[in-house]
Amino acid sequence: MRKKIVAGNWKMNKNFEEGMALVTEIVGMLNDEYQGSAEVVLIPPFTHLNAVSRMVAESKWVKSGAQNCSNHASGAYTGEVSAAMIQSVGAQYVIVGHSERRQYFNEHNDWLARKVDAVLTNQLIAIYCCGETLEEREAGKHFEVLKEQITQGLFHLTQEQMSNIVIAYEPVWAIGTGKTASTQQAQEVHAFIRNLVKEKYNDTVANELTIQYGGSVKPENAAELFASPDIDGALVGGAALQSRSFVDIVKAMP
Ligand code: PGA
Repeated sequence: MRKKIVAGNWKMNKNFEEGMALVTEIVGMLNDEYQGSAEVVLIPPFTHLNAVSRMVAESKWVKSGAQNCSNHASGAYTGEVSAAMIQSVGAQYVIVGHSERRQYFNEHNDWLARKVDAVLTNQLIAIYCCGETLEEREAGKHFEVLKEQITQGLFHLTQEQMSNIVIAYEPVWAIGTGKTASTQQAQEVHAFIRNLVKEKYNDTVANELTIQYGGSVKPENAAELFASPDIDGALVGGAALQSRSFVDIVKAMP
């Protein structure tokens, strides 16, 4: 059975105190209310990651992760944070290639492939993001764009390495816009991605791959998304900034 994962990407939100309060609330609510059908990942800014990782260390269902990492191992790269540093504070996941990194920081697939390597070298799990812009969807190019992102970012990996990859499909037009892809649109893309992986690797790798959907996931639409056969979780932005809405999304996983 493949793993279901609901992750909260805080982006550049919450000061330290607010972040600590949010984690305390989420961990407490999950302890009281949760049966554990999904793994939960909290992805705060770097400044909070050490503290968050320690706070969730004892939790049965909650893990922590980073929003980005360097493609270099160490050295004179001012302002960068390595995958080894992330691993050393107890985090387990790293988002690679979020559309905001692709868009505002010019991160391209070949560069992201090196980040994926850095993540895997340090025994972490990469959440590799892919997704088309509105323009690309309207031009009917979304499958082509997704295929390129996935092929160039991931398909240099061995079958064994692929077991430490999660793919997040995040249509750019649905991120932070309140516009969710319809369940049919998301399911169609998720099935396409799983099939790509099957063609490159095999049935087992494809069937075990966790594919998250991201883009305006809310408590109101989560259950319907999660009911689709190829949607194995969510990467949540805005709704992850409040404990109630985030925990309700987590609990929507059947
Ligand atoms: P959103 O962000 O839930 O605010 O749309 C999702 C993401 O960017 O991961």
